[in-house]
Amino acid sequence: MPKNYLKTEPRRGEGGKESEALFDFINEKIKEIREIVGKEKALSVLSGGVDSSVVTVLGYKALGKKLKVVFIDNGLMREGEPENVVKIFKKLGIKVEIIDAKEKFFRALKRKTDPEEKRKIISDVFYGDVFKKILEKNRVKFLLQGTNLTDIEETVAGIKFQHNVLEQIGISTEKKFGYRLIEPLIELRKNEIRKVAKLLGLPEEIQQRIPFPGPALAARIIGEVTPEKIAIIRKATAIVEKELKNSGAFQYFPVLMKDKATGIKNGKREFGNIIIIRCVESIDARIATPTKLSWKILERITKRLTTEIPGTNRVCYDFTPKPPATIEYI
Ligand code: XMP
Repeated sequence: MPKNYLKTEPRRGEGGKESEALFDFINEKIKEIREIVGKEKALSVLSGGVDSSVVTVLGYKALGKKLKVVFIDNGLMREGEPENVVKIFKKLGIKVEIIDAKEKFFRALKRKTDPEEKRKIISDVFYGDVFKKILEKNRVKFLLQGTNLTDIEETVAGIKFQHNVLEQIGISTEKKFGYRLIEPLIELRKNEIRKVAKLLGLPEEIQQRIPFPGPALAARIIGEVTPEKIAIIRKATAIVEKELKNSGAFQYFPVLMKDKATGIKNGKREFGNIIIIRCVESIDARIATPTKLSWKILERITKRLTTEIPGTNRVCYDFTPKPPATIEYI
């Protein structure tokens, strides 16, 4: 049996008034989840990000074994992500089942190029197919998810359709798919969710994880999403994340462009990939400014991307704040 490293109760008096308020928030949410679910069971879908991790721990504290925890391998995740998430939660005493849904997502995304359409497709496959089937198979009526305040505001304002915002724009999952959503974090922003993660005793690695969007690496490919392009952006992501790990920035990632550019490789002309590096400072993702990265770091990342990723011969740095740009590219 794995040892349960989660503190049974978060400790009071560990960080002043704000943490007292968050401590109350945690206890309220645990109680609320327990009351809503009653004798039934609930499902939590982990992505490994701080939001879904916090919700999973709240759900586990509220429901214990009545909470089923899964990680959907949609083929769009970062290198080693499924195994890493399972390992981290095993240490916390929480069992996570990996569900292979790669084929479903790639099939649905085939030939789709419009950014909003891609987002909607990913959302539909998650909610209307994958989640629905797991819930039906396990006779579970409630889905716990980590929607936060910024996700809701941006979707409601029409900036973009966040894959996980449904109820707030009038889509009832109960009517549409036959299950209810429980969203304990809708009042909080990312910085507050990180503090809750700390109070809950989640490891530093999870507390400080840079944000990663629901549509995953598909949000970092302009145009059609294919397994080949995912392989390129997955490798590029591993390089950029490793090189910028100590930058202290809010978020950093590469994006693969649809267009190609002429370059020279081994003395020959090559029409190759263009990769953009995005690295921003922000508190809660509502506004953001580009990080003033050193020339040396940018040169090193460029060198690695152009030498380690075949067919890549051009790397650019994005200097645009949010607004007018958003942080992600789709
Ligand atoms: P944007 O691109 O709107 O992103 O400036 C703001 C923050 O939200 C993340 N993001 C998402 N998170 N589902 C999520 O859970 C989504 O569909 C989604 N889209 C963007 C993004 O990475 C950034 O931190």
